[in-house]
Amino acid sequence: MSITNDLQPQSLLDTSLAHTFPPHFLWGAATAAYQIEGAAYEDGRGLSIWDHFAATPGKTYRGENGDIAANHYHLVQQDTDLMTRLGLGAYRFSIAWPRILPHGRGTINTVGLDFYERLVDSLLARGIKPFATLYHWDLPLTLQQEGGWVNRDTASAFADYAEIVVKRLGDRVEGWITLNEPWCSAYLGYGIGVHAPGIQDRQAAIDAAHHLLLAHGLAVPRIRAHNTPTAQVGITLNCTPITAADDRPETQRDVEHADAFANRWFLDPLFRGAYPDTLFATLGLTPPPIQEGDFSIISAPLDFLGVNYYTRSVVRGAAAPPPADAPETVRPVPGACYTDIGWEIYSQGLADLLVRLHQDYPIPNMWVTENGAAFQDLWDGNDQVNDPRRVEYLRGHIQALAQALQQGVPLRGYFVWSLMDNFEWAEGYSKRFGIVYVDYPTQRRIIKESGHWYAVFLAAFRQAYQP
Ligand code: GCO
Repeated sequence: MSITNDLQPQSLLDTSLAHTFPPHFLWGAATAAYQIEGAAYEDGRGLSIWDHFAATPGKTYRGENGDIAANHYHLVQQDTDLMTRLGLGAYRFSIAWPRILPHGRGTINTVGLDFYERLVDSLLARGIKPFATLYHWDLPLTLQQEGGWVNRDTASAFADYAEIVVKRLGDRVEGWITLNEPWCSAYLGYGIGVHAPGIQDRQAAIDAAHHLLLAHGLAVPRIRAHNTPTAQVGITLNCTPITAADDRPETQRDVEHADAFANRWFLDPLFRGAYPDTLFATLGLTPPPIQEGDFSIISAPLDFLGVNYYTRSVVRGAAAPPPADAPETVRPVPGACYTDIGWEIYSQGLADLLVRLHQDYPIPNMWVTENGAAFQDLWDGNDQVNDPRRVEYLRGHIQALAQALQQGVPLRGYFVWSLMDNFEWAEGYSKRFGIVYVDYPTQRRIIKESGHWYAVFLAAFRQAYQP
């Protein structure tokens, strides 16, 4: 039973919105290995830093972990059928490094490669384009025990891992994303320790960030060597637009520092071949151990930038300049609405961000590789999960995409975060981002109202271009 045969577009506005997108625009949904797969101790998978972090008391909500998650490892066929029912044109997933190289280097676990090959082939059989993230935070624990991202050698280990994967799947994957949100890996994982590996050392975050960028740059040519000519290579950054609370000079100063910390820290090396001038000084830190030639590796030409957008930050200038990672923010923003994870709902921020990226950086193509919201979703125990706020969130942010396209942004597609409810890192399973509800005790999937809306929207989009 296809959803779209039974539901008419919910509003003519949605249909006309769908028709504003160009014919080859790709609509998808995104997930990540540790957040949905489960099977953490099966088929040769090695331990990751997230297995270790989640097992450490007090690190995650109620000590929850990814041991089972949404059991996707055993439900691939069912979940790809679900994607078909939603009418997805693309699916972004991540490949777990510890499934391929249980200790990060050395012996290849071919059973791990076989799993991702089955997933990719299942997608292709359904006409869904695979987009694969090579690193979505699940560093093999063995590498962390050797220093992790603070150790420059991890960068070359990543490039070796990337080549192994692309040798197997490079003939079928449409888009390769080297890293997902290296800002989170570096700052949340090594700087303030709220993510794995749980280190609280802001200088370590600076050094880790450099080696993550180096890992990306070293991997790009290795991926290209085994790619099909049409497959694209890029990186995904979480970008947070910084809005000035007022027009005072102190505010302008602190907005610039916050923007360098939140966004330019990674954008500038990738697309300008240098860090922002003031970044490290405004953090009270020193530059990372940069070696000759690093920036030419890091700024290897890319086919696209993946942009993850959730919210903005409103900054008010302080009398004395605060550290760039601790500006005075306006919370709550008067009149603003917030999601269940405490992020302001501000769809205009997505349009403004995409236009800024297009204007400030030489980015050939962009994909919104994540956008979505957590809300307290309630399942009726049957087949209903009403999430009107998520429908409104998606509608508003898709309208922002249309606005960005009208302003000339080379935007090629959109992946909603997330296909299904999943392990939300330190928040455990307390936060639901899916357009499909997961009843974890039974692992039953229930398409939410937002999933139905998205399916109808995608059907309207397809109908605009059907001969
Ligand atoms: C991120 C990660 C996702 C999160 C999602 C909601 O962007 O932080 O890529 O894994 O689950 O963004 O926080």
